[in-house]
Amino acid sequence: MRRAVCPGSFDPVTHGHLDIIERAANLFDEVVVAVGVNASKRRLFTAEERMGMLEQACAGFPNVRVAGFSGLLTTFCQEHDIHAIVKGLRAVSDFDYELQMAQMNSSLTDVETVFVPTSPEYSFLASSLVKEVASFGGDVSAFVPGFVLARLTARLDEVAARPQDA
Ligand code: PNS
Repeated sequence: MRRAVCPGSFDPVTHGHLDIIERAANLFDEVVVAVGVNASKRRLFTAEERMGMLEQACAGFPNVRVAGFSGLLTTFCQEHDIHAIVKGLRAVSDFDYELQMAQMNSSLTDVETVFVPTSPEYSFLASSLVKEVASFGGDVSAFVPGFVLARLTARLDEVAARPQDA
């Protein structure tokens, strides 16, 4: 079985992520969407919330499943008998760091990175930008599934209502 991993933070999942996941699912027998649960990183959504949103968003893809991972991605790949990492490339600016990671990962274990060019309509899309635009009241409804938009709006409202640190 040809199995691939689509790793990321997915904080939250966007249409750009789903475009890459769907195209990976067309190329491989099984795709594992691996959600980084590194506790030291500050996220808007918990690992469970990010995984839950991905499960809902990927429900229509029968050969896609969602898992959490911590530590090295290559260790996750070894544990799950995965030999391909699929990454979306939005622009040349993504390439330097992605190439470095791909080469490091293939030097650590028997895994190839497959780069998939992001569809042009999503080439500017990043979870961080979606969060920033939404936090200032901008319309991000074109960039995330409707149920993610509702969760995002609710969470940003919660954060805005919290007392600020002195
Ligand atoms: O969505 P992101 O934040 O760009 O995802 C980055 C991620 C989670 C794919 C990357 O940071 C990663 O692979 N982290 C796992 C730790 C690891 O293996 N580091 C060595 C990379 S060469």
